[in-house]
Amino acid sequence: MNTFSFYNPVRLHFGKDQISQLEVELPQYGHNILIVYGGGSIKKNSLYDDVMAILNKLNMNVFELSGVEPNPRVETARKGIEICKKESIDFILAIGGGSVIDCSKLIAAGAKVDEDAWNIVINKTNVIDALPLGTILTLAATGSEMNSGSVISNEETKEKYGWGHPAVFPKFSILDPTYTFTVPKDHTVYGIVDIMSHVFEQYFHDATNTPITDEMCEGVLRTVINTAPKLIEDLENYELRETILLAGTIGLNSFLSMGSRGDWATHNIEHSVSAVYDIPHGGGLAILFPNWMRHNVSVNPERFARLATRVFNVNPEGKTVEEVALEGIDRLSEFWTSIGAPSRLSDYDIDDSQLETLVEKSMVNGPFGRFKELQAEDVRTILKMSL
Ligand code: NZQ
Ligand code: ZN
Repeated sequence: MNTFSFYNPVRLHFGKDQISQLEVELPQYGHNILIVYGGGSIKKNSLYDDVMAILNKLNMNVFELSGVEPNPRVETARKGIEICKKESIDFILAIGGGSVIDCSKLIAAGAKVDEDAWNIVINKTNVIDALPLGTILTLAATGSEMNSGSVISNEETKEKYGWGHPAVFPKFSILDPTYTFTVPKDHTVYGIVDIMSHVFEQYFHDATNTPITDEMCEGVLRTVINTAPKLIEDLENYELRETILLAGTIGLNSFLSMGSRGDWATHNIEHSVSAVYDIPHGGGLAILFPNWMRHNVSVNPERFARLATRVFNVNPEGKTVEEVALEGIDRLSEFWTSIGAPSRLSDYDIDDSQLETLVEKSMVNGPFGRFKELQAEDVRTILKMSL
């Protein structure tokens, strides 16, 4: 294992009716609260009304920022920062999926500085402090509810980057599976792909002797693979939603990377693709990840073969390690296709016309990937395989 320091202060309130915990959590932070949400899904189910009933009961002064986009824009965060400064906001409550939470994290940090929010995203401005924030998660995918990361897009420059700081760990996150019942099938699938991809990014790492986290990763993957096909046929099944919800949180709260540093190259390439084409993050990952795997299988075929046998039930008898490894990758592709995920960039009408832009954007900070460091030529190859 690599040496590591672990820190995660997020308090989780998980399960049915845990929204009532707002009454315990919120009073300690003050009266001026900014609620942040997306395009209106929380008004179509009962969540908005449930939250407002509690905020009214607590006599909060409520301000609202709605319309946070999937692939949230820095422009929207700027609006939130303005409200925080003008109205002396004490606390930010993010109600939504990863996009809403990520946007709220930037608002929380941006409210404490005078510089433009984009400078935080590109690490030009040092974050020292942030307004406290809490989340009510409505979509299982990113793990943002229990990490200190945030991914923000700049529509003007067609850039999308992740940034993070311990000051933006949520103080608490409320995860009630019933609030995820209304997530449509496509976004449920994108979330499942994202969760699995986070585990893959951490499974393909730079360390040796990681038996605990290896088993944890494989267990999460097996559970998601067993649950997903049932869930997409039964979207309001509490137990299936609950399983996927917890998988999403465990998938990216740093538990799975104790003692190792994950690869994260595929996420970097996907962020370039969704920066230029504004496609759903999970959809992009479903297309790119199997091709990152095929491109890198020779780096450590035993690792891929282990994944194939332990997670995808590939029978290794009479086959070479490489054959087992490749069969595992094919099973992953088949699995994602079987639940309705896209498999080619052409599924989003993306052709090779901007290929070099995508390569350039991916390479903006130089070669990347810890399992295998990718150069521009590797990125080009993976993108071509994905067309
Ligand atoms: O905007 P609303 O109306 O709420 O609709 C959303 C949105 O259209 C809808 N939705 C969410 N909950 C719903 C619902 N619809 C019905 N019922 C519900 N309960 O789903 C759509 C997608 O939401 P979004 O928040 O964009 O999805 P997700 O949670 O997958 O977040 C994606 C963003 O997170 C970033 C991605 O790059 C992308 O920008 N990531 C953030 C990470 C992090 N902070 O750690 C890591 C990830 O790897 C990822 O990069
Ligand atoms: Zn992701």
